[in-house]
Amino acid sequence: MSTKNSRRDFLKIAAAGSAALGLAPVSQVFASESSPDTEELLAEKKIPEAKGKSVMGLRCKPMATVRIGLIGLGMRGSEAVRRLIQVEGTELVAIADVVSKAVKDANKQITDAGYKAAIEYTAEEDWKKICERDDIDLVYQCTPWLLHTPIAVYAMKHGKHAACEVPSAVTLEQCWDLVDTAEETQRHFMMLENCCYDFFELNTLNMARNGVFGDIYHAEGAYIHDLRWLKFMKEGGYHNMWRLEFSKLHTGNPYPTHGLGPVAQIMGINRGDRFDYLTSVSTSQIGMSLYAQEKFGVNSPEALQEYRLGDMNTTVVRSLKGKTIMIQHDTTSPRPYSRIHRISGTKGMAVKYPEQLIALEPGAHEFLKKEDFDALMKKYEHPLATQIGEKAKKVGGHGGMDFIMDYRLIYCLRKGLPLDQDVYDAASWCSIVPLSEKSVLNRGNSTDIPDFTRGAWKNAEPWPIVTIE
Ligand SMILES: NC(=O)c1ccc[n+]([C@@H]2O[C@H](COP(=O)([O-])OP(=O)(O)OC[C@H]3O[C@@H](n4cnc5c(N)ncnc54)[C@H](O)[C@@H]3O)[C@@H](O)[C@H]2O)c1
Repeated sequence: MSTKNSRRDFLKIAAAGSAALGLAPVSQVFASESSPDTEELLAEKKIPEAKGKSVMGLRCKPMATVRIGLIGLGMRGSEAVRRLIQVEGTELVAIADVVSKAVKDANKQITDAGYKAAIEYTAEEDWKKICERDDIDLVYQCTPWLLHTPIAVYAMKHGKHAACEVPSAVTLEQCWDLVDTAEETQRHFMMLENCCYDFFELNTLNMARNGVFGDIYHAEGAYIHDLRWLKFMKEGGYHNMWRLEFSKLHTGNPYPTHGLGPVAQIMGINRGDRFDYLTSVSTSQIGMSLYAQEKFGVNSPEALQEYRLGDMNTTVVRSLKGKTIMIQHDTTSPRPYSRIHRISGTKGMAVKYPEQLIALEPGAHEFLKKEDFDALMKKYEHPLATQIGEKAKKVGGHGGMDFIMDYRLIYCLRKGLPLDQDVYDAASWCSIVPLSEKSVLNRGNSTDIPDFTRGAWKNAEPWPIVTIE
C-alpha cells in the first residue's frame, strides 16, 4: 500500500476517534504540519502552468502540398521515404542522417521515383537547419529515442508541424515539453503510432464505436518481439546500438505504445476518460545475458555487462472511469511476435494474437465460427481500409498500416483537419515509459499518471470513425 493510502486511512480512523472523544478535528491537528503528500510533490502529480491554449481538436491552415523534412534514414526512415513519395501531395524537400550513405540512398529513391532530389544534410546537428528552413511544413523523424523530443520541440518552435516515431518521449519532462510546445506554438504534433492503423485494430475500433462489444472496460496490448539478434548486432543494426544502450540503463516498459495506442483510442482515453494511475512489475533480466554468453562467450564484455531491462514487463493502467489496460513488453524471450490487442466489453470480446478471434453474447463462451467472423469483419470494415487498404497493402510497410498512417497524416494536413493522434495522446501513452520504470523500482507500487490535457479530456468526444474522400 502506498504512503498516501495509509495516511488517508489513518486520517479517517483518527477523525472518527477524535470526534468520539470531543477533540479538535484531526485536520486541524495536521494543518500546521507539512503533509508527506505535499512534501513529496511527485513529478507525476505536478501539472505545470500552461504556456498556451489547448490544441485539442487543433485545425491549421490547409495546404496543397505538404513539404517535408525527413530526419533519420535508418531502417525505419528509409522505409518512410519509400512510402511518403507514394502519398499524393507530398514533397520531400530536405533529408538528414549522420550516415551519408543513408542520405545518398534515400535521395536515389526520391530521384528514381521521378522527383527532384532533396537537399542533403549529414552533420550531427543539421536537424536544426532543417527545422529552421522556411520551405518546410512538416518535420518527420525516425531517429533514435533520445533525439525525438528535442527535434520535435525545436521543429514546433520554428513553426513546423512535427511527426515523430515511437516513443516520442522517454521522460515525464519530455512529455510535458511536447504538450507545452504544441500549445505554445499551436502546431500539430503526431506520434507515428502506426499500429492504430492496422486492419484488425481499425476493424475493432469501428465495432467498438458501433457498440458490438458493449461497454469496454478492459483491454490488453503488448510489444512482444524477440529483438535479441538486432539489439546485439554491431554493424548494420541500430545506429550505435541505441536500443541495447537503453536496455543497459532502464527497466520498466520502454516501448509501450504499439499495444497501448489502439486500445486507448478504442476506450476514449483523453476523450471522455483519462489514465489515472498504473502499477508495473518486471521479471529479472535473464535472456540478454544468456544470449550474450552464447553469442560472444561467457567472459565477453557483452555477457559481463549489466542490463537493467527485465525480460518481461507487465504494467496495468487504470482509468478514472474504472477501465483497466494491461500492457506487456518483452524484446528478449524466444516467443512469436504479439501485440495481443484483446478488448473485453459487456457484450463480447476480440483478440488479435496469436489468432484473430471474436466472441459475442449470447454465445460468448465460444469464439465465432469463421463464416460469422468474416461476415462481421466485412460489415464493420473501417472506411480507411475500404478506401486505401488495397493500395496500402501494395505499398507495404507492416502489411499496409504504415501507409494508411502516412496517408491520413498528409490528408489531414492538406485539408486542415485535426490529426488522428494528438500531442496529448503522445504524452499520455509515452508517460508509461518513465512511470512503469518508477513503479518497477518501487516494488510495483502505484504511481499517478498526469492529466496532460489539463482537464480538456472531460468535454472531448472519443475519436470518430474517420474517412478520406
Ligand atoms: N513504428 C514502428 O513500427 C517502428 C518500427 C521500427 C522502428 N521504429 C522507431 O523508429 C525509430 C528509428 O528506428 P530504426 O529502427 O530506424 O533505428 P536506426 O538506428 O536504424 O535508425 C536511426 C537513424 O537515425 C540516424 N541518426 C542518429 N543520430 C542522428 C542525428 N543527429 N541526425 C540525423 N540522423 C541521426 C542514424 O544514423 C540512423 O540512420 C525509433 O524510434 C524506433 O523505435 C518504429
